[in-house]
Amino acid sequence: MRVDLVTIFPEFFRGPLDFGILRRARQSGLVDVNVHDLRDYTHDKHRTVDDRPFGGGEGMVLKPEPIFECLERLGMTPAQAELERGTPALRARGESKESVILLSAQGRRLDQALAAELAQLDRMVLICGRYEGVDERVSEHLADREVSIGDYVLSGGELGAAVILDVVTRLIPGAVGNEASTRQESFTAGAEEIGDSGPSSTCGSGGLLDYPHYTRPADFRGMTVPEVLVNGNHEEIRRWRRRSALEKTMRNRPDLIDATALSEDDRELLAEIEGQRSVQRK
Ligand code: ADE
Repeated sequence: MRVDLVTIFPEFFRGPLDFGILRRARQSGLVDVNVHDLRDYTHDKHRTVDDRPFGGGEGMVLKPEPIFECLERLGMTPAQAELERGTPALRARGESKESVILLSAQGRRLDQALAAELAQLDRMVLICGRYEGVDERVSEHLADREVSIGDYVLSGGELGAAVILDVVTRLIPGAVGNEASTRQESFTAGAEEIGDSGPSSTCGSGGLLDYPHYTRPADFRGMTVPEVLVNGNHEEIRRWRRRSALEKTMRNRPDLIDATALSEDDRELLAEIEGQRSVQRK
């Protein structure tokens, strides 16, 4: 996948791109990341990228010209893209392998399903917003999606772009050593796809939060690992993990329980957990 990051802080990405999975994916050619300094696409002495908002109000707005010029250089403006690869509307309908994404607090909220969709692309352009906002013509005519990484306001889109890059890269086949591990973690639906080949792969989270993990030592300063994990009974381990995932999800993200297709077994486990909770409350 080719990724283009459009930003006024190109240095910002030095850290995120240079460690772990992202670094390895870049080195092995799975992702080709290019960072573009928006100020290189200005024409005045001060390399101005922002201006005051029409209609008045607080703060500054990122100007459209440098962003359009940068995307022109990348061959990703609507006119070029329409001729060669389809309109932004087509891209938005998922009928293109390319996407121009504007990072903003007003965007569709990123989740694992959107990350999986983006991981299918051949090319992704991430435009990092700044200041009070970005001239709306960028969202209207240049980007085919607007994405937010969560319901809070960042001071800019750079952190959001780094997050998207991270979650998408680790879903590209070959980026993470053990592919099964990305399929059974939190928020990944489809436990049934995972198969049934031992404890490490029998417990797909299926839209729940991931189950707890432990490693050696089994006894660390008197804090012991749950006995069931040390005993090696695969069926018991599977059940313990499912129960723990349900328990953690109920505690931290009860909204996910409602959105998850639960099996008969799950309902029994939930009833058990509820029962234990009410005993603890007494
Ligand atoms: N820019 C400001 N807030 C943001 C958010 N929550 N996600 C992505 N970009 C942003």
